[in-house]
Amino acid sequence: MEDQSSEQIYGLSTPSMHQLLNEYPLNQTESREIIDNILHSFEDVPGGLMVILNEIQSQIGYISQPIQEYISAILNIPVSTITGVVSFYSFFTTKPRGDHTIKFCMGTACYVGGTPQLMRKAEQILDIQTGDTTPDNHITMEVCRCVGSCSQAPVVVVDEQLYGRVRPSKIPPLIRDIMKTYEDS
Ligand code: FES
Repeated sequence: MEDQSSEQIYGLSTPSMHQLLNEYPLNQTESREIIDNILHSFEDVPGGLMVILNEIQSQIGYISQPIQEYISAILNIPVSTITGVVSFYSFFTTKPRGDHTIKFCMGTACYVGGTPQLMRKAEQILDIQTGDTTPDNHITMEVCRCVGSCSQAPVVVVDEQLYGRVRPSKIPPLIRDIMKTYEDS
């Protein structure tokens, strides 16, 4: 029923749309309503795509490939355009994030300054790959572009807090500090 109403609203009735509507989180009524409301509210505003992506990121928590394809079908924008925007801005993510995010700057100064070694250290400790979230959902590891503090390379950003001139030996205490917040609660 939910699928039909959406198809009526947008005049869409294609097998690929049916497939999309069976994909998580589009197959959840609540998520679909949130996404549809955002699309309705902002599709005609100037710069609407950025506003829509921002709202979906904020309210759903990520913009997965099925969500990108859904936006593309509804707004009649090439999915490659949407994917380009989502992958350019580090604020956007295609997968759900954990409670805390550790971002490793991969700008040139940081890369040369040792970001890959920092990432390897964190991957060993957390037993995940960069881009993934720990199974307990506590920490997500991500890369980001230059954050404008090249003089402090290599830079790591934990949630909103920036750490400069980070050495691999600094990674274990950084992670311990995050984990402490769970012990205290
Ligand atoms: S390259 Fe990392 S802050 Fe600029």
